[in-house]
Amino acid sequence: MCGIVGYTGNGPAASLILDSLELLEYRGYDSAGLALKDSETGETILRKRAGRVQDLRYLCDFGSEWFNCGIGHTRWATHGGVSNDNAHPHRFGKVVLVHNGIIENYLELRDQFLLSDRLKSDTDSEIAAGVMDHFYNKNPRQAIAETVRYLKGTFSLVIMFEDIPDVIYAVRNVSPIVASYTNEGTMLASDVTALGIHAKQYMPVPEMNILELHKDAIRLYDMKGNPQACEFIDIDWDTSRASKGNYPFYMEKEIMEQPETVMKTIKSRIREGHIDLTADGIPDSILAECDSICAIACGTAMHAALTAKNIVQSRLRIKMEVECASEFIYSDPILDERTLAIVISQSGETIDTLTALKYVRSKGVRSIAVINVKGSSIARESDYVIYTDAGPEIAVASTKAFTAQIAAMMLLIGRMAVVRHALKPGEEKSFVENIMKLPEQITSVLDRRRDIHVIARQLLEAKDTFMIGRGLDYSILLEGALKLKEVSYIHTEAYASGELKHGTIALITEDIPVIAMVTQTKLISKELSNIREVKTRGANVILFLREDIDVNEAEFSKVFRLPAASDDFMVIPAVTALQLLAYYVSSDKGLDVDKPRNLAKVVTVE
Ligand code: AGP
Repeated sequence: MCGIVGYTGNGPAASLILDSLELLEYRGYDSAGLALKDSETGETILRKRAGRVQDLRYLCDFGSEWFNCGIGHTRWATHGGVSNDNAHPHRFGKVVLVHNGIIENYLELRDQFLLSDRLKSDTDSEIAAGVMDHFYNKNPRQAIAETVRYLKGTFSLVIMFEDIPDVIYAVRNVSPIVASYTNEGTMLASDVTALGIHAKQYMPVPEMNILELHKDAIRLYDMKGNPQACEFIDIDWDTSRASKGNYPFYMEKEIMEQPETVMKTIKSRIREGHIDLTADGIPDSILAECDSICAIACGTAMHAALTAKNIVQSRLRIKMEVECASEFIYSDPILDERTLAIVISQSGETIDTLTALKYVRSKGVRSIAVINVKGSSIARESDYVIYTDAGPEIAVASTKAFTAQIAAMMLLIGRMAVVRHALKPGEEKSFVENIMKLPEQITSVLDRRRDIHVIARQLLEAKDTFMIGRGLDYSILLEGALKLKEVSYIHTEAYASGELKHGTIALITEDIPVIAMVTQTKLISKELSNIREVKTRGANVILFLREDIDVNEAEFSKVFRLPAASDDFMVIPAVTALQLLAYYVSSDKGLDVDKPRNLAKVVTVE
């Protein structure tokens, strides 16, 4: 999970690289660096240090020196701690490179190529540079091809050679690289977010191909040196949405965008009152023929799958498994050709999810991906794709992508219900009406966000808290707990409230904050009695409930009422409230909401 940028052309390489790295900091931000080719002397200078790109800028006051070719990197440490020496780029002999991924056999290579005495860092990346320097004999593509034969693991390597001016090379295995023309040259990056303001089209670089960036040309070769066609995709994101606007943090902006992004995701798929996925190229047959669903994802995307499972099983009466991608392929999963795999991923680059997808495809299982980033690795690997229309999501904590995933899953479930004749007369109409109401329900929560901000103040001193609910409320709370944990560092545990009495209630003590969610009409009485159980043990209960339930609000430390909807459709307004709660706790604690410690937006290491 690192951010990589490369540029060569007639423009100012240093500022373009630094600005682009800042757009990629959500991929990793513990250290940063860049290497620049002096256009006069051909010399390559390196500037790198622990810290943010903003800190790196202090090392980049070049005065009148001019560079028009360079590579940059913002790091999420895997091998080797956070230090100036471990920051990228790494120079070894004639090779200067940056790397995203994990070279699993780096120690064997260190010994095999006798590199130890010349290493300056503890990283696998520097060893890859050493191997490449070993093979380099004025033929870059040959050196790259020889090197990757020895590498085991995932990598995107972006390379400059000391004696070759103005050309940048790249090769990848799993970890992503995209490339584009700009109006003054060519550039590459880890993902399209960094290209947006410079390009209208981009090329996802295929795995195990060698990319050459020249000032006026992008060239692609296979490992034998045969030229390959470059296939470009339109950048149809509104790149202005990749900026913070007037918000202090991307997370707040992205929460506030949700009425628009959910509407964008659903609008183009509802025609004359019916769900229509033909534009996505998803045949009704794949929805009608499967007899079970296996949903695979990580983190927030997995919570979207868990939420959908409640709806699939209640509406379609077919079995749906939800698998945590990092565990899936090691669990000897039971799959057959009548299983439909649904993989969900905002980035489309999460390696655990991509690995799981490749596994199910190897078993002959057909797949539908729910993806936010067009042309991403998981999108390209899947049989079919439903793209969410959330636009660039920059904050590490996923919010608008989650609600767009839920909306997309509801469309898929709705279409499945129609083609499987699982709906009674008139049910499709009400299902579609409920989906169309989602944006206004989000808005009604956002309009009362100040009330949630007041509630958030109750949690500022908390070290531990619980979130309790049943059924769909429990799935919602799993996502709410992840949000609060990852941006505020409060240990938050989502718990099926009926399960508390089997042990965990031992942890409920005087004044411990407990957030309770009650939105499911069929579970109200059970959920309220579980709340009483924690209250009698001294818990300080903050209640989020649907507005049409009658409770004595004096019994709770705070109550927030959610717009009432049919049970299945309470997910989105409920999770919006929990997103805001997490956001306000984090921002009021003075934390870096968009870049929480230890995290990165895209997890491209297993
Ligand atoms: C959620 O807020 C986190 N950023 C993380 O759990 C994320 O959802 C997970 O890494 C999956 O990412 P993806 O959707 O890009 O595959």
